[in-house]
Amino acid sequence: EKGGYDHFMLKEIHEQPKAIRDTYRGRLLRNEAIIKMAGVEDNMKKFLNANRIIIVACGTSWHAGLVAEYIFEDLARIPVEVEYASEFRYRNPVITENDVLIAISQSGETADTLAAIKLAKSKGAFVFGVCNVVGSSIARESDAGAYTHAGPEIGVASTKAFTTQITVLSLIALRLSRAKGTISSSDFRHHLLELEMIPKKVEQALKSDAHIKKIADIYKNVSNFLYLGRGYNFPVALEGALKLKEISYIHAEGYPAAEMKHGPIALIDENMPIVVIATKKGHYEKVVSNIQEIKSRKGKIIGIVTEGDIQVRDLADHVIEVPESLDSLSPLLTTIPLQLLSYHIAVLLNKNVDQPRNLAKSVTVE
Ligand code: M6R
Repeated sequence: EKGGYDHFMLKEIHEQPKAIRDTYRGRLLRNEAIIKMAGVEDNMKKFLNANRIIIVACGTSWHAGLVAEYIFEDLARIPVEVEYASEFRYRNPVITENDVLIAISQSGETADTLAAIKLAKSKGAFVFGVCNVVGSSIARESDAGAYTHAGPEIGVASTKAFTTQITVLSLIALRLSRAKGTISSSDFRHHLLELEMIPKKVEQALKSDAHIKKIADIYKNVSNFLYLGRGYNFPVALEGALKLKEISYIHAEGYPAAEMKHGPIALIDENMPIVVIATKKGHYEKVVSNIQEIKSRKGKIIGIVTEGDIQVRDLADHVIEVPESLDSLSPLLTTIPLQLLSYHIAVLLNKNVDQPRNLAKSVTVE
């Protein structure tokens, strides 16, 4: 059932090219230059009249929501707020009939996310669900939705659910940008083409596996990790840190790279590995200067870079390459080495990768 892999997590990491393709299949019609999503089409007025989109989720799904915030605002020019479902529901939030609430959940059973939906519905907001499990409570409770077609995710640490959530949310953002006219038709076509190429590029990124395992071996005994990223890759830094915490029990924190100097920089010394996402299109020069700041404090740098990069390679202790893509789609690639890094560290430390202590696949308690 693990298809020849040692763990479900590794199997699911490797399933991502297929999972992403399955998620856009039938929706991304490149030859016709359209995106077809019934749940969006049928409710286009609600989306277009929305004052804002509120995204609610927990854990990894919340990180996908953060990536979506960047895409929606950047492409569709719709204001977005991303909320932890648990905070949102308990703080007497301002919700109106002109709000669209998008709930993201792999399992579709997360208690706080479900409660946030019910609250939003009671205030008259339109609720759109992005779930993986068909027929789940959140899917049923939503007014409309779009499934991720990741297939069953067994590993407690979410991997393919995350990348397929980003895929669905990118499709929605692109569809809305087209409807709103905030994207030109040539940019739109370009995005469709780039999204279609992602599965092949994920395959390429997966080839760094053996190299990543060596890096994992070097750092497996440290007690802290820092993950830094900017823009679209800031949420990827958060997700990378969460993945490491969950399965290796090593303390890790994700930060927007520019926030480093507002505190975490105090932690940096020769024992601190820092994973920095430094792809070519995402504020590259700014990230390079953050890397220089780390280096002058002797931190160990693991750079996630675009293929062929030389500048970061010169500065970093290690680099892991991913293929080039659009900035907005880069999280689908940069997240792959981070999944593999935490996987290998956990395996080398003999941890129970698929069922880490204290964690459940779906959190149905509040
Ligand atoms: O099923 P959901 O997407 O609603 O689950 C949300 C979180 O519980 C989940 O993403 C959790 O953080 C994972 N263990 C992350 O790997």
